[in-house]
Amino acid sequence: MQEIIQRLDAMRQAARMGGGQKRIDRQHAKGKLTARERVELFLDPGSFEEWDMFVEHRCTDFGMDRHHVPGDGVVTGYGTVNGRLIFVFSQDFTVFGGSLSESHAKKICKIMEHAMKVGAPVVGLNDSGGARIQEGVDSLAGYADVFQLNVLASGVIPQISLIMGPCAGGAVYSPAMTDFIFMVKDTSYMFVTGPDVVKTVTHEEVSAEELGGAMTHSTRSGVSDRAFENDVEALLMLRRFVNFLPASNREKPPVWPTEDPADRAEMSLDTLVPDDPNKPYDMKELILKIVDDEDFFELQPNHAGNILTGFARMQGATVGIVANQPMVLAGCLDIDSSKKAARFVRFCDAFNIPILTFVDVPGFLPGTDQEYNGIIKHGAKLLFAYAEATVPKVTLITRKAYGGAYDVMSSKHLRGDVNLAWPTAEIAVMGPKGAVEIIFRHDLGDEERIAAATAEYKEKFANPFVAGRRGFIDDVIMPHSTRKRICRSLAMLKDKELENPWRKHDNIPL
Ligand code: HXC
Repeated sequence: MQEIIQRLDAMRQAARMGGGQKRIDRQHAKGKLTARERVELFLDPGSFEEWDMFVEHRCTDFGMDRHHVPGDGVVTGYGTVNGRLIFVFSQDFTVFGGSLSESHAKKICKIMEHAMKVGAPVVGLNDSGGARIQEGVDSLAGYADVFQLNVLASGVIPQISLIMGPCAGGAVYSPAMTDFIFMVKDTSYMFVTGPDVVKTVTHEEVSAEELGGAMTHSTRSGVSDRAFENDVEALLMLRRFVNFLPASNREKPPVWPTEDPADRAEMSLDTLVPDDPNKPYDMKELILKIVDDEDFFELQPNHAGNILTGFARMQGATVGIVANQPMVLAGCLDIDSSKKAARFVRFCDAFNIPILTFVDVPGFLPGTDQEYNGIIKHGAKLLFAYAEATVPKVTLITRKAYGGAYDVMSSKHLRGDVNLAWPTAEIAVMGPKGAVEIIFRHDLGDEERIAAATAEYKEKFANPFVAGRRGFIDDVIMPHSTRKRICRSLAMLKDKELENPWRKHDNIPL
């Protein structure tokens, strides 16, 4: 017996060494943790239950029959984060460069299937050279099996990808189909084709970092939801992030204890909106002042800054926040911001997370660039997402709510449950200047007439009371009471039930 136990121990030891000390040292020298160190740091101490530690590849080509490493380049299993169940796979770059073989893929699929059965998130820690070249089509088949499960799990359990090394070729498509992608600065990159292929095909000279590094994807492309400084920061932030999420679509979001009073008045909000309607102010200040403990986990903070998205809590329960940001492009909706917010709204709706919307939007961004690139279809994504969402929707208009963008931003007309406005709200087809220039086009030389018409327009529309009279706004509230009013609205909506008509699936304008 003792001998068998010792043998098991030796086998476990061998598996834990992955590709060997030299490769582990190389990993550390790059500033990266190993696959196992990452899992340990991400999960609660001692909670990791590893599966398939002894799985090996079955390839016999290119001398692979003489080269086996137990675990085959990916560490898989489950554990807890703050006591909540979570499944994890962590690719081991020290074993065949973390490349994906048939066996490696089967290990990932196994935990994904279990996660779906029991209703728990899957976190993938990606660090891989892509398809295991020696295995050919078996490896490609393995990828496709993972892709298929990504799709089946979408909207059922949260799926999160943390990119901690290379991720290239078709391999990027598994993370792309998960709900959130986070990247580590300087050590991770994602692209469909690498710099060498780019040079051959398009004659562009570009570094891997410029083409698909964490900064590129968290600023320009919007592929990544956040970029972190290093492995340790990324894993600790990921722990913080999963605390916001429900375990599956069968659950309500978790509630964490808070000492922050639901009726906390925030007097400084009474002066947040400047007197001059063309002057910007920071919408993030409003968010931080009304959510529990100023805790806001922002997504895509450096991409499409004209809209803010992220998670926070009200009275301990998770809410998704979407807010126009007057500091960037005056808070206009454009292609990038519509796509960013639409995807976020759909995640919240899929996972029972109430949506709080803060509105200060002068309209859609005009111009050939926007029109040629399809603002019509992309803007419609956000409209569609809000209109189909059945979770509690609470909306506050702080200042401008003009034109189509008023309708889009979770208006009453799109089944907004509680629609509030500050006294500074202006709800109209467009701003006073633009409106008067169109209606009184023939009087443009007559300054007195124009001034009078502008004043009349402001009086009539540059306020929330016309919408209030129609019931499109449920109440005009004091800015300092915003937290209290929203907390009460959310409490009232806690058991909201609403269903869309049966269909196979909708056809959102992609
Ligand atoms: C097998 C691989 C491998 C792979 C790396 N290795 N990639 N083994 N299949 N895809 C092995 C190397 O042989 C090496 O083994 C070890 O991993 C570390 O690799 P290095 O090259 O020494 O590391 P580094 O210099 O850091 O470069 C990392 C890298 C590079 C940029 C990822 O290895 C690379 O370009 N690999 C090939 C990437 C690729 O073309 N993959 C296929 C993409 S197509 P030793 O024994 O020396 O430690 C694809 C299709 C997916 O993935 C389709 C899905 C639909």
